[in-house]
Amino acid sequence: MTEVLVVDASDPDRAAIAHAAAILRRGGLVAFPTETVYGLGAHALDRHAIRRIFEAKGRPSSDPLIVHIHGIADLQALAVDIPIEAHALASLFWPGPLTMVLKKSPVVPDEVTAGLDTVAIRIPAHPIAQALLAATAIPVAAPSANLFSRPSPTRASHVLHDLDGRIDLVLDGGPTAVGVESTVLDLTTAPVVLRPGAVTLEMIRTVLPGAQLRQRHEAADSAAMKSPGLLSRHYAPRAPLTLYEGSSRAVAERIDADAHAAVARGLRVGIIAANDDRFPAEASRALFIERLGSEADLNVIAANLYDALRRLDDLSVDLILARTFSSSSGLSVAIQDRLRRAAAGRIVHA
Ligand code: TXA
Ligand code: MG
Repeated sequence: MTEVLVVDASDPDRAAIAHAAAILRRGGLVAFPTETVYGLGAHALDRHAIRRIFEAKGRPSSDPLIVHIHGIADLQALAVDIPIEAHALASLFWPGPLTMVLKKSPVVPDEVTAGLDTVAIRIPAHPIAQALLAATAIPVAAPSANLFSRPSPTRASHVLHDLDGRIDLVLDGGPTAVGVESTVLDLTTAPVVLRPGAVTLEMIRTVLPGAQLRQRHEAADSAAMKSPGLLSRHYAPRAPLTLYEGSSRAVAERIDADAHAAVARGLRVGIIAANDDRFPAEASRALFIERLGSEADLNVIAANLYDALRRLDDLSVDLILARTFSSSSGLSVAIQDRLRRAAAGRIVHA
C-alpha cells in the first residue's frame, strides 16, 4: 500500500516530513513535490534503494538519475573537478530548476549514474523538497515520479495513477508550479543544455556565453546514449500526438479541419489549445479540448501541459492534435521540446 500525506507547502508539517525522511533513510521510496514535477526519491548512496526506483518506474537501468541535495556544501562529496562556473550558476539559480552534470565522485553508486563517470545534481526550490532534504540529511536520487515513458507528474494524483502500490509514500503538496522538468546542463564538456527547462539558455549564457542547446538530430543518436531522457517517446501520452507548427491562426484552422475529419471517421479526438483558439468543430461530442492558458503566459501553459495530456489519456482519445507555443526564447523552448518529443516525429507545418 502507498501511504498519502497531504502537506501544506507554506508550512510543511514536521511529523510528516520526519516520517518521509525516515522512510528514505531506511531505503524506501517517497514521492514528493519539487517546483518542476513530482520526484520519486530514494537514498542516493544506497544501491538497493536505487534499484527499487528503477523497478517501481519500469525504467531501464541505462537511464541515470538526478541527485537532489539540500545545500551547496553537499556538492563536494558527490562531484569532483567542479568548474568555477558551476559555483556561479549555483549562486544564481539554486535552489531552482537547474540540473548540472559534473564529474562524479566515487561515493556515488553506478546504479545512480547508469555507469557514467558523471553525475546530475540539483537543489530543488520547493519548500516540501527542501524540508525533506534537510530532515534526511542524505542526498536523494529522484527521477520524475511517473511510470517510464508516461508524462511527468505535476500533481499527487498523477503519481498515484502510475505508482500506487509500488512506492511507500506520496507527499501531496498540490500542483507543481513550473510543470516541466529542470534544465539539464552538462558541464563536463563544452557547456551544453541536454534538456531545456525554466532556467533558459539565455540565463545560462550570462555565466557561460558559449553554452549551446543540444540539437534535435544529435539527440536522436549520440546524445540519447549520453542522456537517455532525450529519447523521443519519453514524454508521450498514450494516444499518438501530432504537433501543428506555424502561425496561431493557420494552426487552429488546420487542427479544426483535421479534427473534424477524424471525428467524421468515428474517432475520439483530443486537442491541446490556447484559451483564445477557436475551433468551429467544437460542438462535437467526440472532441475534447484542453485549453492550457493564454498564449501570452507561457508559465501557465507549461504548468498545465502534462495534466492536460494525462486528462486526454483518461478520456481514452484515439489521437491528440496539439498546437505549438513557439517563440524563439524563454520557456517556449522547453514547452516546444516536450511537445516535439511527445509527437515523436508527427509534425504538421500549417
Ligand atoms: O525537474 C526535474 O529534473 C525532475 C525533478 C524530480 O527533479 N526530475 C527529473 O528526473 O526529471 P528524470 O530522471 O525524469 O530526468 C533526468 C534527466 C534524464 O534526461 C537523464 O538522462 C538526465 O537527466 N541525466 C541524469 N544523469 C545524467 C548524467 N550523468 N549525464 C547526462 N544526463 C543525465
Ligand atoms: Mg522523467
